[in-house]
Amino acid sequence: ALPRDLEGLRVVVSAGGTREPLDPVRHLGNRSSGKQGYALARVAAQRGADVTLVAAHTEALPEPAGAEVVHVSTARQLGAAVEEAASAADVVVMAAAVADFRPADTADHKIKKTEHSPDPTIALVRNPDILAGLVEARRPGQVIVGFAAETGDEQGGVLDHARAKLKRKGCDLLVVNAVGEGKAFEMEENTGWLLGADGTEQRIPLGAKSLLAATVWDAVTELVRRRAHR
Ligand code: C5P
Repeated sequence: ALPRDLEGLRVVVSAGGTREPLDPVRHLGNRSSGKQGYALARVAAQRGADVTLVAAHTEALPEPAGAEVVHVSTARQLGAAVEEAASAADVVVMAAAVADFRPADTADHKIKKTEHSPDPTIALVRNPDILAGLVEARRPGQVIVGFAAETGDEQGGVLDHARAKLKRKGCDLLVVNAVGEGKAFEMEENTGWLLGADGTEQRIPLGAKSLLAATVWDAVTELVRRRAHR
């Protein structure tokens, strides 16, 4: 049995990939399976936390036992649901793959191709950065965890990139995953680094997504404990 060391903590986890509609039948999406976010929610509930899982689009996954699940589709819906849940939460983990951009216009009818019409272009506008908004609205003592999916490897500057992102985003912990070439997305296993705003850096060995989840919750409990003793 797992330790019940998250008892009394209210946590919010976002998972999956958002979809940004072009028209009633088409969208821009991404390849997030949702497995890492679901594993984070499942492990947190097993360790006694009060869990809200804000789930965008995922593979067919079983709902984590004991978690309250809110289903959303677009980045803006995900932002609204996460912000609402975060206002009463001790910990927020943004594992969702949120679209940075959405189509500037969503047609209310299926976009048609006609014989002589020019090929369409899609204008995009920026979505709000939900993680940055959470950091700005942070409750005293609240722990905020971000994810960074980076292509490349350690030599390719992934970590330098990630350290800069951690600073820029202002979160407490950043989970760094190498993606691309069959890594992380859609896989059963995950690996990467866990970077702390306090300068701590931990390599997360290749293993089940529940293992990465456990490592994240260990680091979170450590931060919560330190803050309680301040
Ligand atoms: O900047 P980048 O998209 O790499 O940052 C990834 C982190 O930011 C993830 O935790 C993701 O959930 C979050 N994010 C967000 N809102 C966005 C884009 C990303 O909260 N619009």
